[in-house]
Amino acid sequence: MGLYSILLIPVNYLAPCALLLITFALGLLTSLWHMCRNPRQVLWVHQWRTSFLGATQPMLFALSDRMLKRVKQDLLKHAAGIVLEVGGGRGHSLKYYDRTKIQRIWVVEPDETSVLALKREIHRLDMDSICGVLKCRIEDADVIHNGIATESIDTVVCIQTLCTVPNPRLAISFLYSLLKPGSGQLIFLEHVASTHVLTRAVQDIYTRGIWRFVMGGCELNRDTAKWCVDGGGTSRRYEVWSGVEIDAIPGDWTNIFPHVKGILVKSLGPA
Ligand SMILES: C[S@@+](CC[C@H](N)C(=O)[O-])C[C@H]1O[C@@H](n2cnc3c(N)ncnc32)[C@H](O)[C@@H]1O
Repeated sequence: MGLYSILLIPVNYLAPCALLLITFALGLLTSLWHMCRNPRQVLWVHQWRTSFLGATQPMLFALSDRMLKRVKQDLLKHAAGIVLEVGGGRGHSLKYYDRTKIQRIWVVEPDETSVLALKREIHRLDMDSICGVLKCRIEDADVIHNGIATESIDTVVCIQTLCTVPNPRLAISFLYSLLKPGSGQLIFLEHVASTHVLTRAVQDIYTRGIWRFVMGGCELNRDTAKWCVDGGGTSRRYEVWSGVEIDAIPGDWTNIFPHVKGILVKSLGPA
């Protein structure tokens, strides 16, 4: 353990506190102001949540996009064909796609406020003709299957989404079923559980505490990359992926938000 890492411990371990404080203050003040102007909504938890997330998510998503710009650019240029982006948020990733390779992009996003911003971004980027929005959760298989058949997707994209979906393993397994056998690829960039025991313990404390309530359900301590490689953790008797390219984004072991990126190519399945 170097001196540099020891010095970084308080900085890195307290960074989420600072982010929580700023987010909480912004969300609370905005929600209080909203309730003063709409007193009839004051008893509805859903309205508080919508107002809180509506105030905080634009800042958080924009911050994350800024910090991960290079990695996203590098990763999303590999997206091709019919693309399904899960939890597209406010559409920050759309600008990184190479449109010459894309046939169609379906963006799944359940949050109403984000969907409005997402549609504005699609229009701003002049992507209306290739981009469709599915306002639902990835668990809503019936809605997804309305436009998307099993084994029909060339590229599934998950950018900081599997940290938030309620049952990530089930979601990955479902996404796997949508990919074309032999060529369909899962592209992901997610923050994951730390491999360092102390940092992992700190992630657990944050996640079990207030973090997921303030951050729209996000959990810091998920083994997302491992679950992706497992194809959702379901035991299959055949090779799940024919290509596996996984990279950890370099960072100190004290980092509470270690990121992993990956491109996994679906195998042909059982012989
Ligand atoms: C941390 S944000 C990331 C947004 C976007 N991918 C980005 O990088 O800017 C996670 C997104 O997942 C969405 N989400 C949450 N639960 C979901 C679910 N069950 N299915 C699909 N998307 C979901 C949220 O509404 C939110 O927009």
